[in-house]
Amino acid sequence: MPFSYPRSSTMDWGMQNRLSRIFAEGDSRCLMLAVDHGYFLGPTYRLEIPKETIQPLLPYTDSLMLTRGVLRTSVDPKTNVPIVLRVSGGSSILGEDLSNETITTSIEEALRINATCLAMSIFVGSKYEHQTLRNLSKLVDKGERYGIPILAVTAVGREMTRDYKYLGLACRIAAELGAHIVKTYYCDEFEKVVDGCPVPVIIAGGKKVSNEKDVLKLTYESISKGAAGVDMGRNIWQSDYPVAMIQAVRSVVHQGLDVNQAYEKFLSLKHENIEDVIPTSIKSTK
Ligand code: R5P
Repeated sequence: MPFSYPRSSTMDWGMQNRLSRIFAEGDSRCLMLAVDHGYFLGPTYRLEIPKETIQPLLPYTDSLMLTRGVLRTSVDPKTNVPIVLRVSGGSSILGEDLSNETITTSIEEALRINATCLAMSIFVGSKYEHQTLRNLSKLVDKGERYGIPILAVTAVGREMTRDYKYLGLACRIAAELGAHIVKTYYCDEFEKVVDGCPVPVIIAGGKKVSNEKDVLKLTYESISKGAAGVDMGRNIWQSDYPVAMIQAVRSVVHQGLDVNQAYEKFLSLKHENIEDVIPTSIKSTK
């Protein structure tokens, strides 16, 4: 069973309510759609016009992870999908060091936006490790004050190895500093990462891979080894069939489908929706 927060009198109603909007009742799992990449990558492939990428996927996600800029410009305020607001940044792929992040969005702004959760990156082992860990501690203090959970993203520098020792270290530090959810990457012996982290661990999809089945395998293995869900971006919306892909990933996270069953589902949805899955403006950028 994935981690589920005990009902606790020490956790405020608002905090419990927000966490219950991120993790589905019943299985305590989540499918979070990540579309925050532009905050340091700029107009990422197939996310050039965020509204067109996001809109068809909204019915199938439990929550949406993005920055305030894309939220205000590209998401209908009438949406009921919980917002996971990225509030760290300040560096770009052209800069000296991506780990040189600060908190970019205030707690008042997050409340105004009606964010359900706040997300920020930590860079364990990187040049600005200390600064990003302080960012997390301060953000947790603010989140606790207002009942907003914090998702810590364990960003991995080029020089780091994505193994259970490194990822386990980063996840545990995030939880010790008070993060309510930790996002990391899948690795061999992933169960050791989960076992060492006393809050729910969710996994990123990473760079687009060529075969959809591999993404479903990644999802299946992560869930089987204790992940509470996914926070996935490029392997959904850079697919030629993003609507089919998100539904296939969802079937692994929430419906217990195995890799072959989910891939079959993907293939059948792909054929159903062949004409309308990618908006014309996005198709033309390929
Ligand atoms: C990375 O810093 C971003 O926060 C992304 O949200 C994250 O990497 C998940 O997206 P993807 O599945 O594309 O890796």
